[in-house]
Amino acid sequence: MALLNDSVVLITGGAGGIGAAAVRRFAARGNQVVIADLDRDRGEALAAETGAYFVRTDVRDLAENEAAVAAAVERFGRLDVVHLNAGTIASTSIGESFAPDRYRHLMGVNLDSVVYGVQAAHGPLKAAGGGRIVVTASATGMRPSYEVFYAASKHAVVGLVRSLGPLLEAEGIRINALCPGLVDTPLIADRMAELNRAGMAVSDPESVVDALETVLADPRTGLAWLVMADRPLAPFEFADLPVAREKNLLFENGGVRAVQIPEGNQP
Ligand SMILES: NC(=O)c1ccc[n+]([C@@H]2O[C@H](COP(=O)([O-])OP(=O)(O)OC[C@H]3O[C@@H](n4cnc5c(N)ncnc54)[C@H](O)[C@@H]3O)[C@@H](O)[C@H]2O)c1
Repeated sequence: MALLNDSVVLITGGAGGIGAAAVRRFAARGNQVVIADLDRDRGEALAAETGAYFVRTDVRDLAENEAAVAAAVERFGRLDVVHLNAGTIASTSIGESFAPDRYRHLMGVNLDSVVYGVQAAHGPLKAAGGGRIVVTASATGMRPSYEVFYAASKHAVVGLVRSLGPLLEAEGIRINALCPGLVDTPLIADRMAELNRAGMAVSDPESVVDALETVLADPRTGLAWLVMADRPLAPFEFADLPVAREKNLLFENGGVRAVQIPEGNQP
């Protein structure tokens, strides 16, 4: 496996958990790493520890994503790899306790961040002759969860990555999703004791970064890679719906056209 060792890598949510493990790994391999995170204290401390560059970023905002990408390009001259990893949980659901502000916040951090991150990065990646984007989605992007809005946001992210794969390929950009099961990070720290008691398999952040390195080295695009403690790393196999004619319509003449779903293929 060809490991990243001379690239400019931007990592959102890089101040904590999985992102921080990725920052440490990529910096140790000799890459130039940019940490884009809301948490200035932890971001600056990690930058000082690893030699990375910290840009305070709220990933819910398009202009802040653009500013983080611009800062990376200004400082290091180009951008090669983007890890769109920031995420949160909402702990609200449908019913009397529904908290619209927490729902919107979750969608901003988990979904808008990916739309805006890809939008901000794809120009500079294209200018560098191509590049790689890996999004941290979740195994909850393929299965239901009692965290209903978290599940909705991660399903959306997986759908976005799968849909963007063939589109961005034309620009030399590969995009894939990492879909971990439970990972021992601050995000679920308050649930760890309960999860351990229930005998749930929990990965450590370093094993997610192992998977990230494998995915970055893989030539394929538009895949959702399951990263679970109790099974080998592999792209999730979705049901093969009959979309071939739709694909032809979409990409004929090398451009994008309005999609007409052929009769008989309507969901
Ligand atoms: N921990 C798990 O069990 C687990 C499982 C599957 C997927 N994930 C996903 O992995 C990713 C990383 O999560 P983690 O477990 O390392 O969590 P974490 O809470 O340890 O780290 C998340 C980081 O994102 C940053 N962040 C939060 N809101 C932000 C914002 N608006 N702008 C910029 N940065 C912001 C935080 O400051 C923090 O540094 C998330 O997308 C999460 O959904 C986590």
